[in-house]
Amino acid sequence: MYDIFSQMDEDQEEERILSRKHLTEDKDELSMRPTTLAEYAGQSRIKDNLRVYIKAALDRGDALDHVLLYGPPGLGKTTLAGIIANELGVQMRVTSGPAIERQGELAAILTNLEAHDVLFIDEIHRLNHSVEEILYPAMEDYALDIMIGKGPAARSIRLDLPPFTLIGATTRAGLLTSPLRDRFGMIHRLELYSEEEIVQILQRNAALLSIGIDKDGLEILSGRCRGTPRVAIRLLRRMRDFAQVKGTGVIDREICVLGLNALEIDEKGLDATDRRVMLAMAEIYNGGPVGLDTLAATTGEDPGTIEDVYEPYLLQIGFLAKTPRGRVLTDPGFVHLGLDPVARQKERNILNNQIALRDIEEQDKTRPDAEM
Ligand SMILES: Nc1ncnc2c1ncn2[C@@H]1O[C@H](COP(=O)(O)OP(=O)(O)OP(=O)(O)O)[C@@H](O)[C@H]1O
Ligand SMILES: [Mg+2]
Repeated sequence: MYDIFSQMDEDQEEERILSRKHLTEDKDELSMRPTTLAEYAGQSRIKDNLRVYIKAALDRGDALDHVLLYGPPGLGKTTLAGIIANELGVQMRVTSGPAIERQGELAAILTNLEAHDVLFIDEIHRLNHSVEEILYPAMEDYALDIMIGKGPAARSIRLDLPPFTLIGATTRAGLLTSPLRDRFGMIHRLELYSEEEIVQILQRNAALLSIGIDKDGLEILSGRCRGTPRVAIRLLRRMRDFAQVKGTGVIDREICVLGLNALEIDEKGLDATDRRVMLAMAEIYNGGPVGLDTLAATTGEDPGTIEDVYEPYLLQIGFLAKTPRGRVLTDPGFVHLGLDPVARQKERNILNNQIALRDIEEQDKTRPDAEM
């Protein structure tokens, strides 16, 4: 039985192996990133589109249209931005929304670009408003409007910028303002990867890391990484350690079973925290509906973390569903926890009936003809 009230301490939480977010152990991600579209697995719809636009831009001698990439962490947004710059044969300048505090800082970056360069702004939804404003004419007309002087003597001058491509990345496309969103020529949503695509990524990284992994190993790991390359690569590294210490150096079925058990990752790729969230829903709220904040308070997690990190995958595999009244644990979710959904449904019905009866009684009491 999992203890729903046992809370992970903060260090553990930060290093949560299945987190899609970038962790310290992913630091050499950079050197292992694919650099061409051909090496980039999956996302075929996006790649097909990009191939056409990149070729057209190169043939015409224009800068590529601005591109917005969005999707959960670890699906390859930064990697894809690098690939686009590489395929265009230009340099990429990298910055991020929260790193640019003042208009002048963005102006300096923009005026230092060379023709057709790529400017990559990560977490673009976190740009502050005044900085975002100077991005509008820059994106639309390759121009920079700057104010000179103060008070009544102030005037605005317009500087020309070299034609460039802005690539914005965000995990939260919904937080982008519409004037900014409208200025992107291409908006691409990255999808979770299929198991076959993850196998390709695992094979490529195993070769780069000189690790042996057999067919069983590939099959098991690809099913446990939540369709996320970053998690797949992280699991691969962890399994390499187990293979070296406990085995023959090759990641096979035995090593995966051993390693994944030690990491408490189950056959659906859920870890202890996922199960804790699901169990709280099952045991305390009878499967829900339960609101995000209530769920966060009961499990000791941050609502944003539940929403961004745990929930998307649980929703995707159908263990959780969203309803207007809150989140509910689905029947397959109950079954996964080893609980009986039918018994739970009966309990829920009894509870609902009791509530309905009480409501009717209350109404009866307040009716004017109640005494008759
Ligand atoms: N399609 C892919 N093919 C091969 N490797 C990939 C692919 N997508 C991502 N990766 C690998 O997964 C890791 C994470 O990718 P990346 O850093 O680009 O994700 P991200 O979407 O930018 O994440 P974040 O939102 O945290 O910035 C990298 O090591 C990258 O090499
Ligand atoms: Mg990134």
